[in-house]
Amino acid sequence: MSKVYFKEISYIKELLASVEHTQLFVLADENSKEHCYPLIKDYLEYHQVIEIASGEKHKTLDSCNLIWNALTNATADRKALLINLGGGVITDMGGFCAATFKRGIQFINIPTTLLSQVDASVGAKTGIDYNGYKNHIGLFCEAEAVLVNPIFHKTLPQEQIVSGYAEMLKHGLIADKKHWQDCLDNGIEKFSNELIQQSVKIKEQVVEADPTEKGLRKILNFGHTIGHAIETHLLNTENELLHGEAIGLGMIAEAYISKSKGLLNEQEYQIVVNELKGVYKSPKIEKASYAEIKRLCKQDKKNQNGELNMSLLKNIGHAVYDITVEEELIDKALNEIL
Ligand code: GLY
Repeated sequence: MSKVYFKEISYIKELLASVEHTQLFVLADENSKEHCYPLIKDYLEYHQVIEIASGEKHKTLDSCNLIWNALTNATADRKALLINLGGGVITDMGGFCAATFKRGIQFINIPTTLLSQVDASVGAKTGIDYNGYKNHIGLFCEAEAVLVNPIFHKTLPQEQIVSGYAEMLKHGLIADKKHWQDCLDNGIEKFSNELIQQSVKIKEQVVEADPTEKGLRKILNFGHTIGHAIETHLLNTENELLHGEAIGLGMIAEAYISKSKGLLNEQEYQIVVNELKGVYKSPKIEKASYAEIKRLCKQDKKNQNGELNMSLLKNIGHAVYDITVEEELIDKALNEIL
């Protein structure tokens, strides 16, 4: 599994020295190029920056074409090294493009958003959206290393912190009640390196036990069946949500389903939902959209044999997976968040 380094930015020099390579490329979007690249560029040898447009709407094959073209035009060989500098879209898509270019070149992730630091850049999932379905095309491929430093948070708008906070709360809910409580005690103003490390540790432990998501790793997907569907449904609308904002809503909905399935007790359900509703507010979604959201849920990667499977909460700090959920329950759960 990729090693995650919680080090100064200058540590990139040591990482580069440890990975044999012929050429160096940095993938960034307009935001990470403007705000984050200046923080790392003096530590890099000669390199080329590949810039793509920011946002989930650009996590597409078209952006991959731009990246593969840039590598091809620069005659990148199989020992080229790509640094993915940005949020979850950049680390997911950069990893995918690297993993597939000439059957695979090496990449290092330098996640710059809280969300990509605690979740997206760790655990070898790479991919892109396809025909409107989230992370529909992709593969598991390890980064050579992941370098995490909270210095980049200074470059982020607050909504990005709120988005990353959802995945930290999720790690607590599914596997570590103390982490859930530590996150709540901390609030969303500023995160210590220690809290971020705690969150990454939880993710690493789950991924280590089941790297390619045959079973246990599915618990990391709590909140994501409905969350991804809402995120996709609202993409390119005036109500578009960041990934973690949608996952916050997905967790409220799936906590409701957990309770309805007799897994989560009423008292813990109220605690979870009150805390999440305090942070994650739903935009208006018309009842007429429920069918579309359910259609999107049916494309979820956890489903099997036409059955909709979710990862749900048994209690705070413990999740279960492969629980079949009836469509009617999704309607009720959507009522809960809207
Ligand atoms: N973000 C969920 C996972 O990495 O499995």
